[in-house]
Amino acid sequence: MCPFLDIRALSLYIEFTIPQENPLKSYLSHLECTNCRQTYSAEEIHTTCPACGKVLYARYDLAAARKRFTRDDARTRPGNMWRWFEVMPVRDAANVVTLGEGYTPLLAAHNLGREFGAGKVFIKEEGLNPTGSFKARGLSAAVSKAKELGVKAIGMPSAGNAGAALAAYGARAGIDAYIFVPEDTPEMMKKEGLVYGAHVYLVKGLINDAGKIVRDNASARNWFDVSTLKEPYRAEGKKTMGYELAEHFNWELPDAILYPTGGGTGIVGMWKAFEEMEQLGWIGAKRPKMISVQAEGCAPIVKAFHDGARHADLWPNARTLAPGIRVPVAIADYLMLDAMRASGGTGVMVSDQEIVEAMYAMARLEGVFAAPEGAATYAGYKKLMVEGFLKPAETVVLFNTGSGLKTPELVTGEYPVLDPRDPELASKIL
Ligand SMILES: Cc1ncc(COP(=O)(O)O)c(C=O)c1O
Ligand SMILES: [Zn+2]
Repeated sequence: MCPFLDIRALSLYIEFTIPQENPLKSYLSHLECTNCRQTYSAEEIHTTCPACGKVLYARYDLAAARKRFTRDDARTRPGNMWRWFEVMPVRDAANVVTLGEGYTPLLAAHNLGREFGAGKVFIKEEGLNPTGSFKARGLSAAVSKAKELGVKAIGMPSAGNAGAALAAYGARAGIDAYIFVPEDTPEMMKKEGLVYGAHVYLVKGLINDAGKIVRDNASARNWFDVSTLKEPYRAEGKKTMGYELAEHFNWELPDAILYPTGGGTGIVGMWKAFEEMEQLGWIGAKRPKMISVQAEGCAPIVKAFHDGARHADLWPNARTLAPGIRVPVAIADYLMLDAMRASGGTGVMVSDQEIVEAMYAMARLEGVFAAPEGAATYAGYKKLMVEGFLKPAETVVLFNTGSGLKTPELVTGEYPVLDPRDPELASKIL
């Protein structure tokens, strides 16, 4: 094996080989329930808390990590999310299943801010991830840990993008992927599952109906059920968005983050990252206002926030053209709502029409073809600027969580057809 002298060179061939003489060390210590605080071994497979059924988090010995892992260490490592290895849940780097996810650009969006005289609006461009969405982060982490724990098959309900990501990482890891998506999931996301060789099933219903199929069949089929926040590791991948933001802003977090919310891994993952970084001594106590953006046709978290509730009711007849946020019920509702409240954040609903308008605006003003979910954050931003909740001087990050290339049906228009032999051709080019 080649000596591991310059880790940056590894970014040329995407694999996470580690030097024999100086292996990276994960400070993963145990799993902890976010509700009843019961602790569990991280060396065995767990999904939700066996005692109370709520969300388990991976925990690290941050006091020990603090002595060995500095915020500058990651700078010299390859440009993917595994550069935070010490606070990632995989023990042996040989088990990392990576396609180069993470380390996405933070784009200044001056043209979007101009309308409001706001100079510090940014887009975190997650559409550039492998498989075209931020789901790559979560599934890289979950599949890597599954590989380490000896899992042979994974089952998962998905709105589409997570399924595509599981299919890709499962293929790379040699783990069978069983993916259950709503029947009307965008074509491209279903096809991604097929091309990667996953078992893709269309479900007559929504993601929660698909989730029930996975739940009911997981133990008989020996699937590791990686439903959103029903296992501890997808959130560990998503939390790296929080680490990256801190690094982008030179270890001073922005004033507000707008996140298109389905199951909520991004909000809770980033919130967890901020807490970890404070314990590592990398950032101070300042937190961004965590703002959940949902669609008018499916806004359980936003409603619960404004109702002052700690849990969200199931949203009946969930409907929106943004599939990733058509999630009527989320196990991590309390974690999202806690983060939104503790940070002085809020929740905002946007209509499908506003989402489509925002998609065009982001494309035409910034050159970013956003997924409808990502476009929802700009629609939400505009509302909160008009309301005065957000101020022009604030540093605001909009999460474009996926690529618009996956949902071309949302773009409509006419193309004039030209006949090269037409003598009137020149007059037809406007
Ligand atoms: C593009 C996109 N954005 C946002 C979401 C919502 O993510 P989460 O379930 O982590 O809240 C999804 C989920 O499928 C998605 O595909
Ligand atoms: Zn518990």
